[in-house]
This record gives sequence, C-alpha cells and structure tokens, in this order.
Amino acid sequence: MGGASILPINNVFSQNVTENGMDKLVDSNGNFIQKSLPYNKTFLEPHMDEETLHLHYEFHHGGAVKGANKDLENIKKHLQSGEMDQVDMWTRKLAYHFSSHVLHSIFWSNLTNKKTQPKAELLKQIEKDFGSFDNLKAYISKISKSVEGSGWGILGYQPYSQSLTLLQCENHQKLTQWGVVPLLVIDVWEHAYYLKYKNKRAEFVDTVLEIINWDNVAERFVTAKKLHG
Ligand SMILES: [Fe+2]
Repeated sequence: MGGASILPINNVFSQNVTENGMDKLVDSNGNFIQKSLPYNKTFLEPHMDEETLHLHYEFHHGGAVKGANKDLENIKKHLQSGEMDQVDMWTRKLAYHFSSHVLHSIFWSNLTNKKTQPKAELLKQIEKDFGSFDNLKAYISKISKSVEGSGWGILGYQPYSQSLTLLQCENHQKLTQWGVVPLLVIDVWEHAYYLKYKNKRAEFVDTVLEIINWDNVAERFVTAKKLHG
C-alpha cells in the first residue's frame, strides 16, 4: 500500500462512490449483487481477523444478498397473483435483507488498515454539528455500544436539516431500507384518521389514495433519480 492511497484505486467501492455518487448494489437487471471486498481478507489484520471477515462477508452479508433477491422475486410473483398477505410478508423480509446489504456494503468501504482523520468539508461539518471530532467519536462510540441486542451505530447526513446526525439502529431495518428517498408517504398514525374514520384505517388509506398529487410524486422521482448520477 502506498502512503497516499488508503484503498486501491480500482476497487469497486471507491469507484462507485467517486463515479456514481452511490454504491452500486444491483446489476443492470435489478438483481442484487455483492461486490468484491475492496481489499483482501487479511488487510484489516490484526484489528479484524481473516476468519471473522470471511464468515461475515461470505455468509452474513452474502446471505442477505441472496435473501433479498428471493424476497424481491416473491413480492413480484405474489403481487401478480394478488396474494397480498404474501406480499406483506416478503416485503418485511426484503426490508431486513436489503438493509443488511446496504449497511454491510458501506461498512466494508468504511474500513482501512491505517489511521486517518476527517479533513476539509467533513471536518467543518463535524465541528459545526458536534463541536469537535472527539465529541463525534465519543457520541458514536456511546450509541454503538449501547444498542439493545443486534444493530448498528450510524453517522448519516440528514438532507432536510442539512446536518450530520447519529442513529442507533436495532437489527438492520425496522422495516426500512437505508438510502431510500421518500416519494409518497401515507400517515397511518391514528391521529391522521381517527376523528373521521374511527378504527377504519383501511377506508382512510383507500380515500387518501384517491387524492394523491402524482405530479408532486413525479417531481420527487426526477429529483431522487439525480442522486444516482
Ligand atoms: Fe454484519
């Protein structure tokens, strides 16, 4: 490894981040793919041992990618045949597997075998939002260690407030997929419908679907597609 290059230049993750602005997690047919690791499996020794990395990458992350493809196939199949309970079940599984795929893909590219420091714009933003780099480290350390059960500590950028933010994530998903840009949202908290619809949430949802501004959804779709260059 040369002093200047933290990651090999031709690795898939740095290429994707540089050229597309996003990690590529699907092939041209829309199937989920697991890219090669951006380094060999001993690269992170002794901090992360080869066997752990091997099992983690091949079976945990790899299993999630396989699972996500199966989930997607089942969603399409059952959507076609109108078996909506099956669609619901496989959607939950997809949230689990796809979220795992997204987070693991980012995780591998986040690691190297040298000590580095945030610089320039990132450092400025860290200082603005957390006071100092040390504060950020203490903060992400605390929330990562205190995740209840399995999960992740996550540093993210919140475009709505244009700031960095920290999230403590239980499991991978809680029925979300990281990175999704919302285009259309339907509030099904009771406060959204209870006065008029009482306990009839389904009736409320049916009504809302009649009054969606699809032009607004389309504008959001165009904006969201720009994120992937
Ligand atoms: Fe993992």
